[in-house]
Amino acid sequence: MAHRYRSKLTWADVTPEEVYLNRRQLMTGAGAIFGAGLIGGGQAQAQAALEPTSYDDVTSYNNFYEFGTGKTDPARYAHALTTSPWSIEIDGLVDNPGTYSFEDVVDGMTIEERIYRLRCVEAWSMVVPWNGFELADLLERVGVQDGAQYVSFETLVRPEEMRGQNRNTVPWPYREGLRLDEAMNPLTLMATGLYGRDLPNQNGAPIRLVVPWKYGFKSIKSIVRISLTAEQPENTWNMILPNEYGFYANVNPNVDHPRWSQASHRVVGSGLFGGRQDTLMFNGYEEEVAHMYEGMDLTVNY
Ligand code: MTE
Repeated sequence: MAHRYRSKLTWADVTPEEVYLNRRQLMTGAGAIFGAGLIGGGQAQAQAALEPTSYDDVTSYNNFYEFGTGKTDPARYAHALTTSPWSIEIDGLVDNPGTYSFEDVVDGMTIEERIYRLRCVEAWSMVVPWNGFELADLLERVGVQDGAQYVSFETLVRPEEMRGQNRNTVPWPYREGLRLDEAMNPLTLMATGLYGRDLPNQNGAPIRLVVPWKYGFKSIKSIVRISLTAEQPENTWNMILPNEYGFYANVNPNVDHPRWSQASHRVVGSGLFGGRQDTLMFNGYEEEVAHMYEGMDLTVNY
């Protein structure tokens, strides 16, 4: 399948402004590396985060409980998953409900490259160059009806191919949800690839959600169902441990997980600037998303 790249997005669009400016400073100054040494520690760390995590790290250190709970289980076992043919049921409060093939869903969509930070709730992070289209484009195509306020998603259940589903680690299917305005936010991506290649199975082939300002567990993989609903849908981690994981799951360095701090995180595969960074509000996407949560108590709506 041909990937069409649109140059609409630049680094300025996908990165926090101070980081972008900082990057420009570095690029215009003589000797980027020496320049980085002169700026504040936090900024230097943020700058380092812009460098995409290596393809090897992105595809070998994963969370995908359908294939096991170990970080290397998905890379080891996800090849067993048949990703073609693939269909996605789109139902609920939509004008054009139905079962769409993966090809139907992707057809006519503009595939862009988006370089996003991924911050796992377990306090590690990566920077991933995704390829995908805006979820809003798909929702507009199927026609969202009045009364729809949320979007819910489900992952495939196929224990013959997803060996982790033979255990009840989480209630299958894995499920997630967004408020409709979050789903329509231009940052919200349906990813079909990374690093310009088709999405590897361990990263959620053939199609997964990417919501960069929320903890990684919201970015549900290998989606087979999308429903538009009036009620707030259930999401897997909230179902299992409601005191630890909420519905919103916005990245927030000021609201700790009951069992660990969220103020900083480990950078997977980090090189030059060392292994830890301060976590940014909304994972660095505050300017793009903070308006959606105005007036909400983020310690209650965690
Ligand atoms: N989606 C499904 N279906 N099952 C999962 O276990 N894990 C989530 C999310 N999506 C998960 C999932 C978690 S906790 C994270 S951090 C990200 O996927 C990891 O995405 P990556 O492996 O592509 O980095």
